[in-house]
Amino acid sequence: MSDKLKILVTGGNGFIGSHTVVELLHAGYNPVIADNFSNSSPGIVENIERITGKRPAFSETDICSESETQKLFLEHGPFDAVIHFAAFKAVGESMEKPLMYYHNNIGSLISLIRVMQQNQVSKLVFSSSCTVYGQPDILPVTEKTPLKSAASPYGKTKQLCEEIINDVCTVEKLDAVSLRYFNPAGAHESALIGELPLGIPNNLVPFIMQTAIGKREVLNVFGGDYNTPDGTAIRDYIHVVDVAKAHVSALQRLYSQHSHNGNEIFNLGTGKGNSVLEAINSFEKTSGTKLNYKIVARRSGDIEKVWADTSMANKELGWKTELDIDDIMRSAWNWEKYLASNV
Ligand code: WQD
Repeated sequence: MSDKLKILVTGGNGFIGSHTVVELLHAGYNPVIADNFSNSSPGIVENIERITGKRPAFSETDICSESETQKLFLEHGPFDAVIHFAAFKAVGESMEKPLMYYHNNIGSLISLIRVMQQNQVSKLVFSSSCTVYGQPDILPVTEKTPLKSAASPYGKTKQLCEEIINDVCTVEKLDAVSLRYFNPAGAHESALIGELPLGIPNNLVPFIMQTAIGKREVLNVFGGDYNTPDGTAIRDYIHVVDVAKAHVSALQRLYSQHSHNGNEIFNLGTGKGNSVLEAINSFEKTSGTKLNYKIVARRSGDIEKVWADTSMANKELGWKTELDIDDIMRSAWNWEKYLASNV
């Protein structure tokens, strides 16, 4: 079924995008990367080729620009489906720059769907987020859990994007699968691709790695007074390769007879929560390296605890996670050491 279906991967040069492109190539798809390098660096495509033996086509495109996106479709199309990653994704940063997040994350989706319609492309996999839930009252959180007001502009952009997709699916020819990622982290086992945040990392795992390698002096643990067993916040850390494989399953869903249900939503998590201190302990155990950290005040926009009920994705996508937090820390540390040896 996948035989050379041409898949546009927006943001495909980024963290989850690049890992998904690898899995698409392994699965026999023909991915085309569109990226504007706003949160990624050149050179990723070469490493994708080193991993897979195949070099995906690449176009430097700002998906917020409808004219650039139309040019992309003309030059690299026709596309059979689109996986849309291109968005900003840091909760903390979105608190300081809300307008940048609304413009980029919502503008890019509207521009993309418009051009998809102009080119009769009707299958979309959308990169959503567990931040749409806000702080759930009951855990684990299922796809039926009522959405609260998201705690950050980032989460609100993902809520709005899901609504936009829902509404378009109702009146236009569009079939979508929206994947609510929990906390993607880790790196490919080859240590040739991984999380490569530009500037100071917003996210926990890359900050742990940069502290351990000596690029950062200390890891600030945001909050030690949460209502959790060790006082630090709990998240569902999911290996990025498991997240990537779920996108292949989502594409298969769109080509199966089950689809045509509008915008189907799935949680992508492990079903297990880990606190920040547990994550640090996992790193120290797997790397044999002591981490320099200190507990400081909470970060605005953070919720206390969230982890996923993954039974829908397990059942309907035939997908489940194969890796755990130790695999995340081991692979992320190997990636950080690769980066340090290739400066
Ligand atoms: C995790 C925990 C921080 C940095 C992420 C993605 C977002 C979405 C949801 C996909 C929190 C703590 C962090 C640090 C810390 N995923 N922390 N010190 O905020 O849960 O959001 O998952 O869409 O895209 O950003 O992830 O890694 O920033 O924080 O103590 O230096 O680690 O307070 O409890 P978050 P995060």
